[in-house]
Formats: sequence, C-alpha cells, structure tokens
Amino acid sequence: MRLVLLGAPGAGKGTQAKKLIEKYSIPQISTGDILRKAVADGTPLGKEAKSYMDKGELVPDSVVIGLVKDRLAQNDCKKGYILDGFPRNTSQALELDKVLSGINAPLDLALSVDVDREDLLRRLTGRRTCKGCGQMYNIYFSTPMKGKCDKCGGELYQRDDDKEETIKNRLNIYDAQTAPLIKYYSEKGILKSIDGSGNIDDIFNSICSIINSLK
Ligand code: AP5
Ligand code: MG
Repeated sequence: MRLVLLGAPGAGKGTQAKKLIEKYSIPQISTGDILRKAVADGTPLGKEAKSYMDKGELVPDSVVIGLVKDRLAQNDCKKGYILDGFPRNTSQALELDKVLSGINAPLDLALSVDVDREDLLRRLTGRRTCKGCGQMYNIYFSTPMKGKCDKCGGELYQRDDDKEETIKNRLNIYDAQTAPLIKYYSEKGILKSIDGSGNIDDIFNSICSIINSLK
C-alpha cells in the first residue's frame, strides 16, 4: 500500500498514520517529523529548515524532495508506506510521480482528510506531544491523565509552530499550495476523501475500509 495522506494542518494525518502503521506494518514518512528531528539535533538541515518552519512557511522543495527520495529508497519502504505531509505542492507531487514511475511503483491512494477551520484551530492550539514516545494529546479532546504521557510518563511539549499567528499562516499556505493537490490526485483517479471531524477510531475504521476495498 503506497498511500499519501492529504489534509490541512491539524486534520489528523499524524494521528491516523500512527494507527495505520501498526495495522498495516508499513512505515510512516512524515516530512514534518523528519524536519523537526533535524531542528532538535541542530544539524545544518535543521538550521536551514527552522527559519521556514517557525514562520509556518514551506521548506524549499530542493531540501524536502531530496529527503523523501532518500527515505523511499530504504528497504522498509519496499512493502509500501504512508506519506504524511508530502507532497505539499504541485512541484513536489510531480517529482514524486517521476520517482515512482521510474521504479514502476505508483501510488495506490491519496486520501484527503477533511476538517472544518474552527476544529482545526482548536486541535492545533490544544495539541501536546510526548517528548519521549511522540504520542499526541489534546488539552481539549484527549487530556493526558496526570499532565504527563499516559503511555511512557514522558514530558509533554507544544510545537513551536502551534502559535495562533503561525497556525493562520500554515492554513493559508495549505489553501494556496496544498489543497490544489486534491484536484491533481482526483484527475489521476486515486483520490478518496473522508470526513475527519468525528471520533479518532471511527475515522480510522473509515480509512481501513477504503484501504481494504482497494485490495
Ligand atoms: P507538518 O508536521 O507536516 O505539519 P502540518 O501539515 O501542519 O500538520 P500537523 O502535523 O500540524 O497536523 P496533523 O494533520 O498531523 O494533525 P495531528 O494528527 O497532529 O509540517 C510542519 C512544517 O514542516 C510545515 O509548516 C513546513 O514548514 C515543514 N514541512 C513539512 N513537510 C513539508 C513539505 N513536504 N514541504 C515543505 N515544508 C514541509 O492532530 C492535531 C491535533 O488534533 C492533536 O492534538 C490530535 O490529538 C488531535 N486530533 C487528531 N484527530 C482528532 C479527532 N478526530 N478529534 C479530535 N482531536 C483530534
Ligand atoms: Mg502531523
């Protein structure tokens, strides 16, 4: 299963990807997670990416496309993968298609997770992530029991780009640059859309039904 998860910031791409990798035993490739790790490690890539991420802007294609190409070439991607946060614009999508057609392994599905703007804002301002295991929480919807991670006891943090001004910029960039990919994949005949506004497990079940119907 070669899957692209499309959706605005806060739509639940990461939340659903984490459940899908367990069920289907394929890796999640999150360009946001890769970039945040580079920032935390203080690598040259991280230093370059940070200035864009802090403003809620896209990191240049030349940087991100190279990262994804390297990741897709790794052995664990042979059985498939979930792309989360990539592609983000038409040029990234075209480049991805080129790479995949070169190895005769096109995408099976592009899944758009649709959530209205008001919910997105609450999800993003309320998000907290565990420093230890990456588990996500939300102070409005899924509060951790003791102010620490319920799974591993790790400390919770708020992402630097989850400030209201940055969130607005991220949502605007999504509308201008990423939302056109819905049409792009629809014209290729591999787009499905789901309502991402319900309960996390119900949304997960809808995604699994779509994936299973492709087999
Ligand atoms: P990235 O990390 O990709 O962030 P994003 O697209 O803005 O999306 P998010 O991770 O914020 O949201 P999500 O859909 O994963 O939602 P989540 O599951 O966490 O990108 C960050 C930055 O990196 C970009 O701005 C850019 O600078 C750079 N970047 C990354 N990729 C790039 C690329 N390809 N090209 C260029 N630059 C790139 O859920 C959010 C919250 O909601 C959580 O608290 C969760 O618990 C909660 N939640 C989830 N589902 C539900 C539900 N059903 N009900 C209630 N709450 C829910
Ligand atoms: Mg995410």
